[in-house]
Amino acid sequence: MRVLILGASGYLGRTVAHRLRKDHEVYGTFHAQATRYGDKNNMFQLDLGDTNSMRAILDKVRPQIIISCLGGDFKLQLHAHDEIANYIVNENFRKIIYISSANVFDAADESPHYEWDKTFAQSDFGNFKIQCERILVNKLGERCVIIRIPEIWGKDCPRISKLIEDTQNNIPVVTYPNLYVNYTTNIQIAEWIHYIIVENLTGIFHVGTKDTYDYMNFQSQLCTILDLKKPTFKGETAMQRLYQAVLPGRREIPEKWQMKVTDVLRFLGRVQKRKSPL
Ligand SMILES: NC(=O)c1ccc[n+]([C@@H]2O[C@H](COP(=O)([O-])OP(=O)(O)OC[C@H]3O[C@@H](n4cnc5c(N)ncnc54)[C@H](OP(=O)(O)O)[C@@H]3O)[C@@H](O)[C@H]2O)c1
Repeated sequence: MRVLILGASGYLGRTVAHRLRKDHEVYGTFHAQATRYGDKNNMFQLDLGDTNSMRAILDKVRPQIIISCLGGDFKLQLHAHDEIANYIVNENFRKIIYISSANVFDAADESPHYEWDKTFAQSDFGNFKIQCERILVNKLGERCVIIRIPEIWGKDCPRISKLIEDTQNNIPVVTYPNLYVNYTTNIQIAEWIHYIIVENLTGIFHVGTKDTYDYMNFQSQLCTILDLKKPTFKGETAMQRLYQAVLPGRREIPEKWQMKVTDVLRFLGRVQKRKSPL
């Protein structure tokens, strides 16, 4: 398959590109990181602010599968995804895999959520993700796969780098006591995407651990596992237990790619000590 990863220079996009390259012809986009990716012939510079930029890349690559791992201005992203939907709708063999977020439920924090729950957001980010999902699903139906994820963790991810920096410099670590979330890794998401493509699965998928765990305790345990100094925390404790979790309710994905919170912690302890980039 010819795959185009939008945002292939980002944290998740890089991992997905690495995983899919084993079986597919993979192209990607970057925006600001020209020094790192400018001379790679499978990477194209994309500027969401330039209306011709996306169309030119689509016409050049003619992808069968587009995977959107994009960041950037919300309005520009909405416009770009509308344009992508128009491109896909004209040919039956094309589809998109869109990376959405647990924030689509951030106004419904009394319980975790499954794929079939109704979205309800209060944050700008959550509402933007809902809008983007709708644009794609309304135009493309089954040719759009939505992947909703909680925070991404993995080797040298920005959150681990910040945790290391804060603990080394005795800076209080921002936390959310009494917030129960589920967790995922860059590798888990990449493996699910690979499987979804191979099996031609459709619909919405929640990728993350099957269980939830208090955010502050997770950070605390991670510090121990990574041999970091015991952190001091700052953050308001919620009066009652709150949730921001997208639990995986679909049963098609093999057990070996399902995780529990303890698996994620063990995984992070292992990979963070490795020399290789992933
Ligand atoms: N990180 C999380 O914990 C998390 C949680 C839930 C959902 N998500 C979603 O998962 C996806 C991937 O997240 P990530 O953390 O891997 O993102 P990231 O590391 O910030 O990467 C964002 C990508 O978008 C590109 N980009 C940014 N502005 C652009 C613009 N104006 N024009 C064209 N391209 C632009 C970046 O290019 P350059 O690198 O060249 O600047 C990069 O390739 C995103 O859709 C995000 O909303 C992430």
